[in-house]
Amino acid sequence: MYSRITGTGSYLPEKILTNHDLEKMVETSDEWIRSRTGITQRHIANTDQKASDLALFASQEAIKAANITSKDLDLIIVATTTPDMTFPSTACILQDKLGVDNCPAFDVQAVCSGFVYALATADKFVSSGKCRNALVVGSEIYSKILDWNDRNTCVLFGDGAGAVVLSQSEAPGILSSHLHASGRYKDVLSVSGSIGDGAIQGSPYINMDGGAVFKFAVKVLEDVVREATEENKLQPSDIDWLIPHQANVRIIRSTAQKLGIPLDKVVVTVDKHGNTSAASIPLALDIAVKDGRICKDQLVLLEGVGGGFTWGAVLLRW
Ligand code: ACO
Repeated sequence: MYSRITGTGSYLPEKILTNHDLEKMVETSDEWIRSRTGITQRHIANTDQKASDLALFASQEAIKAANITSKDLDLIIVATTTPDMTFPSTACILQDKLGVDNCPAFDVQAVCSGFVYALATADKFVSSGKCRNALVVGSEIYSKILDWNDRNTCVLFGDGAGAVVLSQSEAPGILSSHLHASGRYKDVLSVSGSIGDGAIQGSPYINMDGGAVFKFAVKVLEDVVREATEENKLQPSDIDWLIPHQANVRIIRSTAQKLGIPLDKVVVTVDKHGNTSAASIPLALDIAVKDGRICKDQLVLLEGVGGGFTWGAVLLRW
């Protein structure tokens, strides 16, 4: 028994914030942001929208594309760093919004690697026969944890959601998944705040050593792609589509170059929505599925890295 992605969906909030809009908010320029990151615009959720609302739109699309109904789901996993509330989990809130009851639902917190972690987890449930259809979502509202006066961070991120349905299949499907973490880098990229004594203890905003993130990301993304291809007796050049975490076009290009993967085999969407953390991989996947780039039987490699540090990859046959 294998698991296979049978439907994808995504959602980006209506409001668009361009680099030119940001020029009016902090000392920056469209040229600086584009040349350092490749980002031209990002989407920003309304103040009344929560991660579960974005997740709902993406999930409904994925469920429809999989040709099932929400009642056919027997597992829901949401990867998010920006949950609706401390608890219950965003997955439980999403389950209620989908009108489903009783199936297990939980969140995964692995920051920008969250979707890869969630997909790898769902694969274990589906391929072992415990579940028939799992909904795996990445949903984030980073606009709520950005200091809009800090040009080092506020230009990089955006809001959005992406979702897939993972179903039982006799043919692969997911070939392998590879997860890693190194908590000793926990201070390089963090939101240190937590709730205590009736207030936020620590900072409610993202704090990041951008240069350190960049170097670490390029190294581990190359390593994990090699690990995934070696385990499957493949070369990186055998991959039809590399779908990297959409953090920065320079990280994406450097990784592809080190692996010898031509850029026309790499799905890049960061220009249109910035870094949407756990949502970025399923967003990019959905866009490439819908525009017809990803075709049946192709080899697709999803790879991500994020705060923790966490990193990982999932190799699959479409
Ligand atoms: N506009 C203008 N200037 C800026 C801005 C801005 N928005 N932000 C920083 N600067 C300034 C800095 O203050 C610094 O000025 P100084 O030299 O006077 O001190 C200078 O620009 C730094 O410039 P560079 O060294 O050329 O910047 P660099 O090439 O390192 O790019 C960046 C910075 C984009 C943050 C890069 O390090 C990066 O992308 N790092 C990865 C960060 C990332 O992706 N984080 C996402 C979370 S983790 C993840 O998703 C994997």
